[in-house]
Parts: sequence; structure tokens; C-alpha cells
Amino acid sequence: MKKQTLLTLFALLCLWPAAADEGMWLPSLISARIDDMRAKGFRLTAEEIYSINRASMKDAVVLFDGGCTGELVSAEGLLLTNHHCGYDAIQRHSTVEHDYLTHGFWARSRAEELPNKGLNVRFLVRMEEVTDRIAAGETPEEIIARAEAEGAGYKASVEQMYYGDQQFLFIYEQFDDVRLVAAPPSSIGKFGGDTDNWIWPRHTGDFSIFRIYASKENKPAAYSPDNVPYRPKKHFTISTRGFREGDFTMIYGFPGNTQEYILSDAAEYIATQSDPAKIAIRDGRLDIIARAQESDPALRIHYAAKHAAIANAWKKWQGEVLGLNRMKTVAAKQEQEQAFARENPRGEELLREMKAEYARITTPYFAREITLETLRALPAKYSAEERAETVFPARRETERALFRWLFGEYARRCPVQYQVPAFLDGAAANGSPEAFAEKVFEEVWAGGETPLADSLRSGSKRMLDHISWLLGTDRLRNLISNRLNTLYREYVHELRETWPERPFYPDANLTLRVAYGAIAGYEYADGEYHKPQTTLDGIIAKDNPEIYDYDIPQSLRDLYASKEYGRWGVEVDGRRTVPVCFLASNHTTGGNSGSPVLNADGELIGINFDRTWRSTMSDIAFDPAICRNIAVDIRYVLFVVDRIGGAGYLLKEMRIK
Ligand code: ARG
Ligand code: GLU
Repeated sequence: MKKQTLLTLFALLCLWPAAADEGMWLPSLISARIDDMRAKGFRLTAEEIYSINRASMKDAVVLFDGGCTGELVSAEGLLLTNHHCGYDAIQRHSTVEHDYLTHGFWARSRAEELPNKGLNVRFLVRMEEVTDRIAAGETPEEIIARAEAEGAGYKASVEQMYYGDQQFLFIYEQFDDVRLVAAPPSSIGKFGGDTDNWIWPRHTGDFSIFRIYASKENKPAAYSPDNVPYRPKKHFTISTRGFREGDFTMIYGFPGNTQEYILSDAAEYIATQSDPAKIAIRDGRLDIIARAQESDPALRIHYAAKHAAIANAWKKWQGEVLGLNRMKTVAAKQEQEQAFARENPRGEELLREMKAEYARITTPYFAREITLETLRALPAKYSAEERAETVFPARRETERALFRWLFGEYARRCPVQYQVPAFLDGAAANGSPEAFAEKVFEEVWAGGETPLADSLRSGSKRMLDHISWLLGTDRLRNLISNRLNTLYREYVHELRETWPERPFYPDANLTLRVAYGAIAGYEYADGEYHKPQTTLDGIIAKDNPEIYDYDIPQSLRDLYASKEYGRWGVEVDGRRTVPVCFLASNHTTGGNSGSPVLNADGELIGINFDRTWRSTMSDIAFDPAICRNIAVDIRYVLFVVDRIGGAGYLLKEMRIK
């Protein structure tokens, strides 16, 4: 009994944000956390974080391009985000003559700032709970329509918190004229490439600079040369005074997706089935692409973005599996479920129903994941533009190998009852999935009519629709069905009733959140402590002209040699250097890229861009001992703008302390 109690206690400690820095909090409810924040060093008020009556920090934060975060740093609409968030825009403006990806881009005047079709940013106007309105019969569609009629450029959505136990209306003001102002060369903005991705110690200058334009009335407007720089209600002051380990930090941004309250069954599915399968499928894809890249410089460039995108999640999932195993998350969640069953009168039955529903949906859901990673990851055709590229013929054998590999993986891994009939027939008729892949590939490669590929395409579409029907929803977030969502709603509601003293936060869903923590290193291995700050000296140590990802600009080498750091130089361990990246203990996830990292006075000290590899299970289970987010130090950003870009005039618009 005693052991049981201890185990339960242990499980609860692991699973709930009892202490420390776990949690992504709704800004409109931040007053519930403000005492804790202030106890940890924060010096501002809840009203200064979020207010609908006066300018507050939320008015300086934007959802950038529908999946990243950005922050305002001048009274004239200047905004910072990550290099990898601006990457598409930078790439689109790059040509062989003006290769901004390679050499960087620095607009020398407002007239040189580059418009970006399709790129938008959203400010949160306000958020409010609408659970009661919906219970009283108003539909989300009606609520949204009413909210959007309130202002020009307003976009609204109703989002579920705690699986719909609470519903919130979010009203945004969307700006569509967002121009590229500056980007460092990739050798700074993407320094370390995929090798250093998810890794600490890190030395990436992962930032880019944009400006929001508005109508003369300061309202959202489609791109026009007559538009003027937007005057935000609020922008951040930048602090260059530095910080020490233990200092308070806060992150304000748009985390995309977490699943902190899932059952042990779901955690087990991720750690033993889903992640390992997806990793193995991508192993093969990455091998094929990497071999092509090594064989031909034109292919190296052509597949660079593709390789980075595939490798990013591939590497994240590996960290996630290791983290879940190390934390024994499945066992800890089982303990928690047992405690819940004992302490809540509905507990046992509710869990039984949930587990039964899991068992029903896991196989079709797995089939869906595999289909998306294999058949649906292949092109249905090659566009005329692609065919016109000089690199196109050189891609032939690589593309063929990808078809062969992914057809084989689909056949091996997709549960057979969910395989597309046209695929089963084709594989049988041709003797193997690979032989069938050759047939389909030749047809797609040749262009023109593609009856085989078309029948696979429509067949897999029908199968995915069928799976959505089984799950009772096509709005899929994680491993969930319509019925399971209803059960989860009750489950999380009951968890909160059963343990009212514990803080609960709603899972991330790309709505604005506050996370807070501290500048913090961590024990990486026995006797091996990772300090929370890197410097220019570390860049120089990694510098290698032979390796693409580590070949820094000559101007940076020269600055290091001359030590002419100007106002950006600092003293670290008795040597003069420039700070580059830092670690903190804020709870973040994908979507938090580009988020402002703020100090106790709400001043900008960095831009968030990653987590450490061992942190990635924090989307499912957070470990305060090792979960760390990675930010680029604002002093490095300013140093690069000033000394590498020669764009010191941009600093004049900023408020720098
Ligand atoms: N890991 C970061 C994120 O999840 C950065 C990704 C971009 N960088 C890269 N080397 N692929 O998005
Ligand atoms: N790089 C991620 C992004 O693009 C943030 C890293 C994370 O997942 O924490 O949002």
C-alpha cells in the first residue's frame, strides 16, 4: 500500500505542473498565474500582458504566416521573427543574380522593402469565453460572423480548450501587406543546418526582419505602393543589459499542438507504433535524397528545402521516443489512471469506455498516418515549371527510388484492410509493390495521362475519407475520434474536479499563450553540465569552409580577428566576445518559433527558435529537469544587423536599452 501511494505520488508529480515551468497559459486568464510569475521574478502586471482597454504586450505579438510567431520592435511596424519562418519569402525573392538566401538581404530604404504575396500577420484583438453562448444555442458560425463584422480585416475563430469543455472566441486583425526588410546570409541564419537542428550548444542566428504596412488610416489593406508603415499600439523595448542563469523569462507566442492529457494507451501508441514507423519511413527517404545530394551539386540545392523539412520532424520524433522511454511516461500515466479510478466515482467506467474507443480507432488511425507518410507523400504529377528546370532530368533516378521505397513501405506497414484496392491489385499484377512503383513512376514521369496514378490518388482519398467517417470527424487533431473527444472532455473536466489544487492548462492549439520560466542550463549527462549561453567563440570553433553548414561569412571571421565588436561586445568568463544563443526553461512547441523571449520587465532579450533534442517529448510529458527552449540572443541579432548587414539605421527605430 505504501509503495502504491509513493508510486502514485511520483506519477502525479511527473504528470502535473506542480512546480517549475510547465504550462502554456491563456493570456486573458493570466491573472490566475500572476502571483506565481511575480514570485519567480516578473515585475509587471496581468493587465500589462493582456488588456482589452489599453495597449498591452499582446498588441506587440503576431501570428506570422499562419504557423510562426513574430514581435513588433518599432513604432513603424518593424517586426522580428525567425530566419526559418521567413525562409519561403526570402527564397521567393532569390535569383541567381540576387541570391538573398546565400548572401542575405538588407533593404537600404523603405522603397527597397520587398512585398510578399500571400504572407500575412494577425494581431489578437481580444479573446473571450463563449461556452455559455454556445450552450444557449448560438452556433460557432454565428458567433464568428458577428465578430468579423466588428472591424475591417477582422478574422475570428472559435477554439476548443480542454477538448471543448470550454470554448473561446478569438478575434484577430489581419494585415496582408508584410514586406521583407532584412535577412542574414543562411551561413548565419541557418548556421549548423540540419546537423545542429534540435541541438545544444547552438550558434544559429535564426532571425529575419519584416515590416507591416497599412492604409493611411492605419487599417489592414491589400498591398499598395501607397500603404504606409503600420503604427502598432505597442512594441517591445529591447534589453542589451544581459542576464544571468536563473533570471525570469517569459515567452509570448502561438504554440501549435500538444497532447498533455492523453491516456497511457495513446502515449504507448506514439512511442512504440506511430513514431518508430514514421521515423523508419523517413530514414529511407532521407537516405535516397542525401545520396542524390552528394552525387550532384545541382541536386544538393534542389533537394535542400525538402531534406530539411523531412529531417526536422524525423529528428524530433526520435528525441520524443527517447524522452518518453526515459521518463517512463506510459507507466506514469497508468499510475495516474489508477489513482483517478480510485478517487473519482466515474473514473473506472470512464476509463474503460475511453480505452475501448481507443482500441476501436487505433488501427484505422495508424493506417491514415502511414498513408499520409507514403502514398500521399509522392507527387501525382510533375508540373510544367518543374519540367522546365535544368535540374529536372538529373532527378529521375532519385524520384524513381522514392516511388519504390514508399510503395514498399506502404505495402509493409499499412494494415492490409486499409490498403487501397487499386494498390493491392497493381502490386499483385506486377509481382511486387516495387515493380508496380516502377510502372506508376514511369507514367507520372512521362507526363500526359496518368490513369494508374489517378486511380491510386482517388483510391487513397476514398480510404482516408472512410477512416474519417470511422472516427466521426475529419477535423483530426492527434489520435482522436469524435466520440473520444467527448469522453476526453469529461475526463479532463473530472481530472480538474478531482485534483482542484493542481494547475491545468489547455493543450496548445495555435492560440496565443504565455509560458514562463528562467534562463537555465541543465545536466546533459553525469558530470556534464550544459551552460545556458553560447558565444561567437563557439561559432569560430565550428567554422569550417569545407562544410556547407559551417562555412561562415568572411566578414564574421574578420570581426572575430579584429575584436571590433563595438557596443555588442561583452565579457564572458574573462574574455571579450559576443553572446549568440541561450537556453531557458519555458514550455514551448512548434509555432513558438519567432516568439519574443522577455525578461522580468517585459523587455525583449531573444527570439525563440527551437528546443533541445531531449525536450521534444514535452508535447506529451514535460520534464522540468531537462526541457529547455533555445533562443537567439537579441544582442547577436543587433550585432549581425549592425556589423554584418551594415544596417545600423534599422536600430534607430528600435528602443534599445
Ligand atoms: N527545429 C526547429 C523547428 O522545429 C527549426 C527547424 C528549421 N531548421 C532546420 N535546420 N531544418 O521548426
Ligand atoms: N522550430 C520550431 C518552430 O518552427 C520550434 C521548435 C519547437 O518545436 O519547440 O516552431
